[in-house]
Amino acid sequence: MQACGGAYSPETRRKYYITGPQWAASYEGQALFHAPTRHPVGFEEVIRRYAEIGIGYWCTHDTDVIPTEELGKDGQAEIVSRIRKSLSEHGLSCSMVTTETFHHAVWAASPAAEAPEVRQYAAWRLENTVRMGHELGAQFAVYWPGSLGYYTQGAVEETETLRWYAEGLNAACREDIAVAGKLGRPTLKHCLEAKPFEPQAEILLPTSDAMVSFINSGLLEHPEMVGLNPEYLHELMWGAAPRAALARAILAGKLWHFDINDGYRLKHDVDIAVGLVNPLDWLNVLVLLRNHGYNGPFNLDYKPPRTTSNHGVFAVSFPTAVDRFITLWEMAGEVSSDPVISEANAALRAGGGAASDPHDAAAVAAVNRELLTLHELIAHRMVQILIGQHRGRTFSM
Ligand code: GLC
Ligand code: MN
Ligand code: MN
Repeated sequence: MQACGGAYSPETRRKYYITGPQWAASYEGQALFHAPTRHPVGFEEVIRRYAEIGIGYWCTHDTDVIPTEELGKDGQAEIVSRIRKSLSEHGLSCSMVTTETFHHAVWAASPAAEAPEVRQYAAWRLENTVRMGHELGAQFAVYWPGSLGYYTQGAVEETETLRWYAEGLNAACREDIAVAGKLGRPTLKHCLEAKPFEPQAEILLPTSDAMVSFINSGLLEHPEMVGLNPEYLHELMWGAAPRAALARAILAGKLWHFDINDGYRLKHDVDIAVGLVNPLDWLNVLVLLRNHGYNGPFNLDYKPPRTTSNHGVFAVSFPTAVDRFITLWEMAGEVSSDPVISEANAALRAGGGAASDPHDAAAVAAVNRELLTLHELIAHRMVQILIGQHRGRTFSM
């Protein structure tokens, strides 16, 4: 790390709304065909190490920290008070809480299963997470529904499943309004997270766009309390342009929370750390977010690779992910004020001038012909900024 250089101080890192999930740091390297490569790490260690690195916010699934059988019981209260102590000792805040509705056998048919008792249990779990979120001072609740879909055709009636899913969210929002009212706190921002096809079968709400249409479907009692937590890789996975998906979320007024990571199109949810695969696209994404004043969390929802050791997770994986993000974010600011890009953008928007005949396609095309070369010039300039070439960096052979 010292040889690499380019690291920010923990104080600088804490200035950004960068959030560290419990599950990312404690991920043991297991996968569909792969056994764990790291030993378990508890929340006390994760919070302490995040504080040392300079990650100022922590978030968690309910069952990352509370065993399923202790949920809603004394065990939960005891753990929540230990978490509060740990957070305050290290000057961290809890940004977000999320309910695990995918790992346990009870979710085999999804949290919106046919059996009413499963759905009642799901609603209770969501309400319990909302209460926990308020106790921990969180601002956000995230919902990744997991296997909300089907393995085999014909078993599930889609509209019914979606109605049942909405009932769970309605219960969470109702509980939120009641608890927030009692505590004099603002209600949480409830953010839906889509994932297109992995790890489970066919998915009913595969994309952020599908989630927006679900929010506006009329099934939610409080659509104004529900927005999106898009994940970069989840949009890329189905072959989309994450930047375009984010733009649509911005226009819908629903970009509230953002899971940052990287990976490949049409492959599994490998959750590689931000900027390691698509740094140029990431730079573009952050230009968009900066230009639209996004001020929500940047959540490090990635998986330190199986090849990284327990020591490496905190010594290399997290600090490098944070530092690449900060650099890309600051570069995005540089792009917005870059004189070459600004001039090119202004020229494109001014257009080529009046055509000799405004209804003649060839004449309209002709006045813009030279201008359009600026598209490629802008792309070149973006790459220059990314690799430092705009500061005169060249290779001499
Ligand atoms: C799971 C998903 C992750 C999501 C998180 C929040 O860990 O893999 O993408 O952000 O749940 O519920
Ligand atoms: Mn995610
Ligand atoms: Mn993912």
